[in-house]
Amino acid sequence: MTEQNELFAPSREITEKALIKDYDTLYRRSIEEREAFWAEEAGKLGWYKKWDRVLDSSQKPFYKWFTGGKINIVHNAIDRHVATWRRNKLALIWEGEPGESRTYSYHALNREVCKFANILKSMGVKKGEIVTIYMPQIPELPIAMLACAKLGAAHSVVFGGFSVDALSARIRDANSRVVITADGGFRRGKVVDLKGTVNEALKDAPTVEVCIVIRRTGHAVTMESDRDFWFHELMGLPIATSKCETEVMDAEDPLFILYTSGTTGSPKGLVHTHGGYAVYTSSTMRNVFDLREEDRYWCTADPGWITGHSYLVYGPLINGATLVMYEGAPNHPYPNRWWQMVEKYGVSILYTSPTAIRGLMRFGEQWPRRHDLSCLRLLGSVGEPINPEAWRWYHRVIGGGRCPIMDTWWQTETGGFVITPLPITPLKPGSATKPYFGHEPAIVDDDGNELAPGQEGHLVLKAPWPGMARTILGDPERFRKTYWSAYEKQGWYKAGDSGRKDKDGYFWIIGRTDDVIKVSGHRLGTAEIESALVSHQDVAEAAVIGVPHEVKGQAIHCFVILKHRKVGSRELEEELKAHVSRQVGALARPEKIDFMDALPKTRSGKIMRRVLKARALGQDVGDISTLEE
Ligand code: WT7
Repeated sequence: MTEQNELFAPSREITEKALIKDYDTLYRRSIEEREAFWAEEAGKLGWYKKWDRVLDSSQKPFYKWFTGGKINIVHNAIDRHVATWRRNKLALIWEGEPGESRTYSYHALNREVCKFANILKSMGVKKGEIVTIYMPQIPELPIAMLACAKLGAAHSVVFGGFSVDALSARIRDANSRVVITADGGFRRGKVVDLKGTVNEALKDAPTVEVCIVIRRTGHAVTMESDRDFWFHELMGLPIATSKCETEVMDAEDPLFILYTSGTTGSPKGLVHTHGGYAVYTSSTMRNVFDLREEDRYWCTADPGWITGHSYLVYGPLINGATLVMYEGAPNHPYPNRWWQMVEKYGVSILYTSPTAIRGLMRFGEQWPRRHDLSCLRLLGSVGEPINPEAWRWYHRVIGGGRCPIMDTWWQTETGGFVITPLPITPLKPGSATKPYFGHEPAIVDDDGNELAPGQEGHLVLKAPWPGMARTILGDPERFRKTYWSAYEKQGWYKAGDSGRKDKDGYFWIIGRTDDVIKVSGHRLGTAEIESALVSHQDVAEAAVIGVPHEVKGQAIHCFVILKHRKVGSRELEEELKAHVSRQVGALARPEKIDFMDALPKTRSGKIMRRVLKARALGQDVGDISTLEE
């Protein structure tokens, strides 16, 4: 990617109304007096009891924030609002793929969350346990998350596109006793049979005693008596009253677990907390999206990913915003579905991914042109680097040339935005621009030396922040090793991304440096796909790489050695693709499978993915002196 000299300065309109008008001064202060800055941000929330210490670094890298403080994120996301005029403000506008819509005021959201929480309570759900949620994008999903948090139980949302095995592994890891699901969801006009997947997964998840099922599609599903309960039946019981106390939590108590892919096969359950996470998501949401009372904010992410947690559910609700949520595919029934949504609900802030923009761009400008998108004020992008071409299209066609694009770089681990513009930041297409307050990112070499402008290196974060993941569930050592061991001496967080910083201090993220690939913005580990492949009876060995893809950003390319006497064929390729989809989830379906006689390995037996990648891209394979013949 060539450095862009193109600069998009903010309009007068934006600058005059912006919440933050002077980035440099506030940024400097946030670094010089980091704790004071975060204390001020924390002070904007409701606490049952104020913290004793802002930051406790005594057990780093296991940082603690706002210790001694008592809080519940739901107190901030709901309780505080229903005590004010916001009680009657819309909290959620939802549209299902078939076209029906539902709205919830903060009052209604509170009622539904309380009722759901009372049901969970009657099932014995308590502070400290982890409830697994596997649902389509319907209002009951955020309601279920909030109901768990209200009771002090941590939620573990598993994206509805994940397979039986992926789901059962996550339930087992979390030791969940209760699973919340739906009969199914709608996607591209078809029913996705979630309950069928749950039934299979539960065969391998012995800790589960209760499964609550929301009726969404109405298709026939198998319910097991004494374990499975229909949500609508429970909601009709006298125990489901609309009053429920919010549990008082320690700031450091876990709010949720979210699994993400890493270098090895087993997914990591990252742990986020009530206090720091609430402070961080609300602060970043307010300042970066320049949130105003009258905004209608739409984040297209599924709550099954961190973007949905932080910027569909918690960040917006803590700020008392009105959020828009949509269940289905962007191009169903026609490629104007999203633009229709923006116009219909008067969306003023749209937050989505480069892959979605590229996908919709392909259908042509005529689709958005049919709609009045003048309600939009601000746009956002997340998940992977946005290519300048998609950036310009998003800016010109969707934003009408007047909406700044917030290209937000962050990760499941960071809880919220780390490198991001503010509306007043002059923008360079393809750059996530500058650090958010309190952050000191840097581009360094293997030894931690800071690199000169324009040079590519590892992205590190030098200072802790309140929204950071606290640990990996059940494996603190893996947490330390994965993120904090590379620059242990310096005490820096290694993001696992490479990037450059230009002479103006703008960051340009290039991509992952580990064995993680991003397919349509979804994070997948090559090891997960490889182990799915070798679980097939005909496969002896497998290696997986990500290759550039016009719409998806990256696509999955597999290299497979078959077992003795098996021969590769088109049929077997299709069978293996279907096998991976079944094992991991449809999002992991490989683009291409090559049958090989051997894989390039080092003398110690490590597969050289770099060589495979260079070959697949028709590039020079570089130094192969360590290659075993
Ligand atoms: C990885 C984290 C954070 C929410 C969604 C993804 C890539 C994310 C950007 C961006 C360039 C980006 C990085 C990062 N990434 N946002 N604006 N520009 N790259 O969360 O699934 O944990 O993935 O996504 O490679 O490490 P995630």
